Amino acid sequence: MPKQVLLCPPAYFDVVDVKNAFMARKSSIDRAKAQQQWDALRSALEEAGCQVETIDPAPGREDMVFAANQVFLGFHKGIGRFIVPSRMVYSSRQREVPHYVDWYRQRGFKIIEVNLGDDHLEGHGDLLWHPDWSRIYAGYGFRSARTGVEKFRNAMSKLEIPVVPLHLVDPYCYHLDTCFCPLNNDAVLIYPGAYAAQSLAVLRPFWKRVYELTADEAHKFMGNGIVINGRYLTPYITPHLESILHEEDLAPVVIDTSEFEKSGGSLFCMKAFLP
Ligand code: ARG
Repeated sequence: MPKQVLLCPPAYFDVVDVKNAFMARKSSIDRAKAQQQWDALRSALEEAGCQVETIDPAPGREDMVFAANQVFLGFHKGIGRFIVPSRMVYSSRQREVPHYVDWYRQRGFKIIEVNLGDDHLEGHGDLLWHPDWSRIYAGYGFRSARTGVEKFRNAMSKLEIPVVPLHLVDPYCYHLDTCFCPLNNDAVLIYPGAYAAQSLAVLRPFWKRVYELTADEAHKFMGNGIVINGRYLTPYITPHLESILHEEDLAPVVIDTSEFEKSGGSLFCMKAFLP
């Protein structure tokens, strides 16, 4: 069965406020160009063998194109496919959540509501599976709160899924998915400068091979790529990244995401793989 992936067309995509350090530049969006870049992402996923599903974009939700954030997606032997709805920091983003939750509900996903109270938790921006589903890495510090991650961890412990909290400290790496990209079960791409020293020490032993991006590579979203069927979709490439990918038998596919980078996101943030 082809891998299914959810995308949201960028019909209302815009930069209207400052939600992260990239947005402080307040760059204006060329929406026609954004649409072309999104189309190229869609084609690249299809060429890699994915079945692309879409959710309807809605006005007043200018970041809805970033389909990775509204829910956390999981699979568990006992309960099957499930989601944990996010509690987003910014109100326009919080309004995206019910749209996505409905989409998943209609397709039979079980909904696990974590009682987050006032705490924030931002889906796959900060919550990333080990590829073999053995544990979840959870970034906190900018968007997801440490206490939100703690509540999520308690909920996952009932399913016997361990959660590894990681403290993020670089404002340009405000979501874990900007500085942490598993390439396979043994190898991960990280940007070490994004983590508190203690978290970096916690993270390393889970991997046989840890590849380190430079600050420049990380801040250009080269660690926000998509691993799919022997390819690594990335917004830019350097000889350094190319040699890492070669070591791990991944072929780079470069897709321009300049419009989305103005909003602080790139390829990884623009999709959700369905388990
Ligand atoms: N403008 C969006 C925000 O700040 C970008 C989200 C990017 N998503 C991500 N998973 N890093 O919320």
